[in-house]
Amino acid sequence: MKRIEPIKKPLRGDLSVPGDKSIAHRAVIFGSIAKGTTRIFNMTGGDDNSRTVRAFRQMGVAIGRDGDGLAIDGKGWRGLHAPAAALDCGNSGTTMRLMSGLLAGLPFHSELDGDGSLRQRPMQRVIDPLTQMGARIRSKSGNGLAPLEIDGGGLKGIHYPMPIASAQVKSAVLLAALQASGATTLVEPQPSRNHTEVMIRGFGGSIAVDGMNITLTGGQSLIGQEVLIPGDISSAAFFLVAAALIPGSEVTIRNVGCNPTRDGVIEVLRRMGALIELSNERQAAGERLADIRVRGGKLNGIDIGPELVARTIDEYPILAIAGAMAHGVTTFSDVKELRYKESDRIAAMTEGLRILGVVVDERQDGMTIYGGQHRPFKSGAVRSFADHRVAMSFAIAGLLSDGAIEIDDARCADISFPTFFDLLEKVCLH
Ligand code: S3P
Repeated sequence: MKRIEPIKKPLRGDLSVPGDKSIAHRAVIFGSIAKGTTRIFNMTGGDDNSRTVRAFRQMGVAIGRDGDGLAIDGKGWRGLHAPAAALDCGNSGTTMRLMSGLLAGLPFHSELDGDGSLRQRPMQRVIDPLTQMGARIRSKSGNGLAPLEIDGGGLKGIHYPMPIASAQVKSAVLLAALQASGATTLVEPQPSRNHTEVMIRGFGGSIAVDGMNITLTGGQSLIGQEVLIPGDISSAAFFLVAAALIPGSEVTIRNVGCNPTRDGVIEVLRRMGALIELSNERQAAGERLADIRVRGGKLNGIDIGPELVARTIDEYPILAIAGAMAHGVTTFSDVKELRYKESDRIAAMTEGLRILGVVVDERQDGMTIYGGQHRPFKSGAVRSFADHRVAMSFAIAGLLSDGAIEIDDARCADISFPTFFDLLEKVCLH
């Protein structure tokens, strides 16, 4: 149990958040299939990323510490060997889905498994396109859920109009396509995060992006690189919202990845009236970085429509806290995907907000939050459902409560942001 007391003064600080979890998974994957040495700096050290590292070690890839970074001795596709046991992806959907695409092309038997939450998350979305490519991949219990069993090899390129916008599905197919005969074209319904495409180019591969069509030809070999992981905007979001909501606050977060397929939270908060400035904007390894300064003020409720879903997908829990403290009504629509994350985030946020005195309408594909009615939040005990982003969102709510908020399990913050509570203390106790 974690207890968060209300803050008595504005937030102040100049901080950095850990490296982007999505980009780090990909750096480990591409470093492991490329030839030559890859060095990765500024990894989160979170549990999700460690799962990807461990999976490649189990397949014989030498991955070691190199100063404050990670060094991978890449031997190309042929450097990967059949793992002796199932690859345990823990809580990490990205590990499981991306590895399923990679393993679909490798000529050996493997199994992917995960924790209780991951075993509930839909895997049919990767099984379908990979099966079309000729992969032998099946859900062991036959219900489209993990554990998955894969006998890889013999893939051919496909044309695949994606039914949902998902970077994990897209990346799984691209990792299979790199090993397939012929070309694969994906058609996205909405642009999802493009870190895989950026990194394929960064590792010397070629991939064509034309509007919503992404085409890649199999049989490419990749070359090891140095990758400096930008700060995770999804982790920065907790501090952006906290500072934006607490009058007099001023927080700067350095070196944050602001890839345009990920930066919806900045647009949403600005539309709510937040005072956010970007400076020192630059490009590093194909990714946009900036320092973000946010000052406290007054937020207003808004409608977050379908056009923002993919760019903002992981920030809805903390935006629900922003909406609850804003003046007026905030509506999330067309976000059914939130029900399939580390927890059912619509249900988890609705339950917790109601306990804290907020009026919420819950819908199958969204929620409406009646903001400013209970400001500050009522004290109470909420559940995180072992979901890191739900836990951190309610921790921020605790700063804005009239007593204290207790979170049943907040250790799950370690999944993506092991230093979250230390940084929170730092900006509170300046
Ligand atoms: C991720 C993609 C998103 C996101 C997840 C990380 C990735 O999932 O929610 O936290 O690294 O590709 P979907 O692809 O399922 O939308």
